[in-house]
Amino acid sequence: MNRLSAGKIITNATCNKAMPSSKTIFQQNRKVIPGGVVSVNRAIAPEIAFVRGQGSHVWDADGKEYIDYHAAFAPFILGHNDPDVNAAVAKVIADGATLMGSGTNPWEGHCAALIVKHVPSVEKVMLTNTGSEATYHAIRIARAHTGRNGVIVMQGGYNGWHNDVALNVMTPTDVIGPRVSPGEYRKIPLSAGVPDSALDDVHVVNFNDLDSVRWVMDQYDIAALILEPILQNIGIVHPQAGYLQELRDLCNARGVVLIFDEVKTGFRHAMGGYQSICGIMPDLSVFGKAIANGYPIGAIGGRASFMDYFVHENPAKRVLIAGTYNAHPISCAGAIATMEKLASADFEHLYAMGEQLETELTTLFKEAGIAASIARQGSAFCVYFMDRTPVDWHDIAEHHDFALDERYRRALIEKGIYHFPLATKQGSISFAHSQTDIDETLSKTRDVLQSL
Ligand SMILES: Cc1ncc(COP(=O)(O)O)c(C=O)c1O
Repeated sequence: MNRLSAGKIITNATCNKAMPSSKTIFQQNRKVIPGGVVSVNRAIAPEIAFVRGQGSHVWDADGKEYIDYHAAFAPFILGHNDPDVNAAVAKVIADGATLMGSGTNPWEGHCAALIVKHVPSVEKVMLTNTGSEATYHAIRIARAHTGRNGVIVMQGGYNGWHNDVALNVMTPTDVIGPRVSPGEYRKIPLSAGVPDSALDDVHVVNFNDLDSVRWVMDQYDIAALILEPILQNIGIVHPQAGYLQELRDLCNARGVVLIFDEVKTGFRHAMGGYQSICGIMPDLSVFGKAIANGYPIGAIGGRASFMDYFVHENPAKRVLIAGTYNAHPISCAGAIATMEKLASADFEHLYAMGEQLETELTTLFKEAGIAASIARQGSAFCVYFMDRTPVDWHDIAEHHDFALDERYRRALIEKGIYHFPLATKQGSISFAHSQTDIDETLSKTRDVLQSL
């Protein structure tokens, strides 16, 4: 199939030229990469090696084309290979704006200024390469500010791969037991090699459960509470009415730093992040993903009184942030171009595509007699194979049909609709998705539901 995109015809032949098959690529990579894939979260069956993306479509090494809703775990808000973002990146390269590693540059200032302009709680910004680095540094600021060590995270939330936060996401309930309230969950790190001493300072509570937050705050000296304001690593789990405000009030009362991890919500649901939608202002916010439409960057932002810990006059209070590649002109150019393009983009159109998918998928599931409900925030959605949208991880673990979810995803992939084939992973629509894409998705979903 040929496709005309951004003025360029991409054909299967182009993809196949001198390209080994997915199978061969996996076989070769396994010889030199543990498991064959450099990020273990990406190692998933069916084993597909993707080699090209354009707009809302991606192509694998065998030349098969897919409408993409995975969006590489969600950075692609403008679609793959956006011509304006690429042109901005190409320009800094052509201009010789390489990494200097000394002093500042105009791109990091421009990038920070755009974040300050759009995100209501942010007065100052630091830039990293990834979301994980950004959450790491946000927690460090909280500890420096409070002189305490404890951190509260959410069961079912993901805030990156480092020791303070990499635990208890899609934890089997036979491992952590039933819902705990008030109290904290048994800690199940996502990785071996995490020292017990690191886990001592982390406390995992249930999302949408204020009693557990109070309970943990009563027991321990807590520096920070970090959460995705919508849990988007187990689909789309919304905060219940009043929950975020109550968290804000509790943090104020106890002197705890409230960190919103807006790596997935920021610049996807609104230019001002989810905080601009819910009206609750965190002390610190963390961004990544959609901020640069696929170029590698993370950001920490907040009130100057917090951010200035990076330059605190007392060396004992000063928070270290360093990184050879922090604010690389390429990443900054990608972020600046993305934010500028998004600032004049029609988010209502994006949300309308989301609404259409939600409404029509709901009808399709109903017609097929399959119990399913669709949770959505704007352009991000998740089909839950249960009779309502969930309130927390335990709700999902106890009621969602995981096997059916994965069968559904694999059947869609067969038909050329790419969702990450792991149950509850978020679907993301981009500005590059067209009405044709949505119609084709719905028609193929109808076929899939008949064969499930
Ligand atoms: C909410 C959230 N926070 C933090 C991260 C970590 O970001 P990165 O993968 O860029 O380190 C992720 C990644 O998926 C995320 O979804």
